[in-house]
Amino acid sequence: MFNEAYSYDDVLILPGYSEILPRDCDVKTTLCKGIKLNVPVISSAMDTVTEDKLAIAIALEGGAGVIHRNLLPDEQARQVGNVKRYLNWVIENPVTIGEEAKIGDIKAMMDRYDVSGMPVLDKGKRLIGIITSRDLRFCSDDTLSVVDVMTRKIVKEEGTPTTESARRKFDENRIEKLPVVDSENRLTGLITVKDMEKHAQHPYAATDNTGRLIVGAAISPQDYMIRGPLLKNAHVDFVVFDTAHGNTKNVMDALKGFKKEFNIPVIAGNVASKDGARRLIDNGADAIKVGIGPGSICTTRVVAGVGVPQFTAVWECAEEAAGKVPVIADGGIKFSGDITKAIGAGADLVMIGNLFAGLKESPGNEIIYDGRIYKEYRGMGSLGALKKGGGDRYQIAKDEEPTPEGIEGRVPYKGELRSFLHQLVSGLKKGMGYCGCKDISELKRYRKFVKISAAGLRESHAHDVQITQEAPNYSRM
Ligand code: XMP
Repeated sequence: MFNEAYSYDDVLILPGYSEILPRDCDVKTTLCKGIKLNVPVISSAMDTVTEDKLAIAIALEGGAGVIHRNLLPDEQARQVGNVKRYLNWVIENPVTIGEEAKIGDIKAMMDRYDVSGMPVLDKGKRLIGIITSRDLRFCSDDTLSVVDVMTRKIVKEEGTPTTESARRKFDENRIEKLPVVDSENRLTGLITVKDMEKHAQHPYAATDNTGRLIVGAAISPQDYMIRGPLLKNAHVDFVVFDTAHGNTKNVMDALKGFKKEFNIPVIAGNVASKDGARRLIDNGADAIKVGIGPGSICTTRVVAGVGVPQFTAVWECAEEAAGKVPVIADGGIKFSGDITKAIGAGADLVMIGNLFAGLKESPGNEIIYDGRIYKEYRGMGSLGALKKGGGDRYQIAKDEEPTPEGIEGRVPYKGELRSFLHQLVSGLKKGMGYCGCKDISELKRYRKFVKISAAGLRESHAHDVQITQEAPNYSRM
């Protein structure tokens, strides 16, 4: 009459023969057509999880953030822009100044665009100098002309620079900005020492083909024609149709409509069955997102009586997707081992809310309660989030009395994302080492699990002991 379905806690991966060390495992993955990530993790589009700060932090470590849509469209696009501007390789359209400008104009431009220097161009757009805050330090006369103060001996790159040649020029000349010109000395770009340093500090950053961080944004079937153009202008890398029930006519129509209007990769969801996965793929989704009710703040399964335990949902949808598009396992990740299980069930990556809500970079302030530090975490279907405007995710009209499908709460403060994500990814690599899987595609194909009992789960956790020193990758709230 019905099938059994399992959640992550119901199963364990069978260890296998291995010739690989965890540190040598490769965790790169494909998020969707044309976008690669260096770690298989993205952050949830939730108003207590992902805004620009967290999106920058996670992309610097190789994943990506999805900026939530409880923000007005302009503000969401502004935050996407902040992420895209955080890191550059060659800035294609740097702020420049003309040779006729006065020092006062330059100071105003520097303030307005928050830059510490600008190439100076003649009327033919050729590079004739560079002016930086260093040149301006002892210049109090705002009426002086830029050409009287700028540095004329310019260190520059011609053509297509390499990181090695740029690095050498920065080191040898102790400069902070390196203009790039074409063979006729016309400015084509600018490299800054700040960007070079950021790239060096974050060698695994997930970047687009111009060296900028990858970022996504949530949209809905109701607002995609408003958010779409703004997000495109802000150079968003991908959008997510963020709905609680993705297997609907509404979502399919919107998906087709979006694909027709915009040339931006689309992730669509959420679904939890083969039927839902197939329909999203047939209607053009570039990746599908799986999860109905596994989230730590979700009450959909008890309020509506609907859902599929997440391990089975991922397994089934991944079978349907079978290499056609990537599968994202959304919700229910409590420990790093759940990431290994999700990918073992066939997902290409996971989406995480709860574990990231307590990070320093997530929105909101730290709260002290009973002597410990927490941060707020709430479902997008909770009363608080619905009041802020996210009702359409749950098919609730503006004038309707809300029936929440999520709760509001708090999670322990976890410090900075960098070390926390390192623990999650190291746990995944350990799992891959136990199975002898050298990369994500091998782990996806491995598919050897055992079903465990309640006693097995109890035995899996720390037991018969009082924890005296908390580990960075294990706690039981
Ligand atoms: P975790 O387990 O990481 O899950 O906290 C985050 C995911 O949960 C989904 N989400 C919700 N689901 N009611 C729901 O049924 C809600 O209020 C809600 N808010 C978020 C979402 O897919 C997220 O990525």
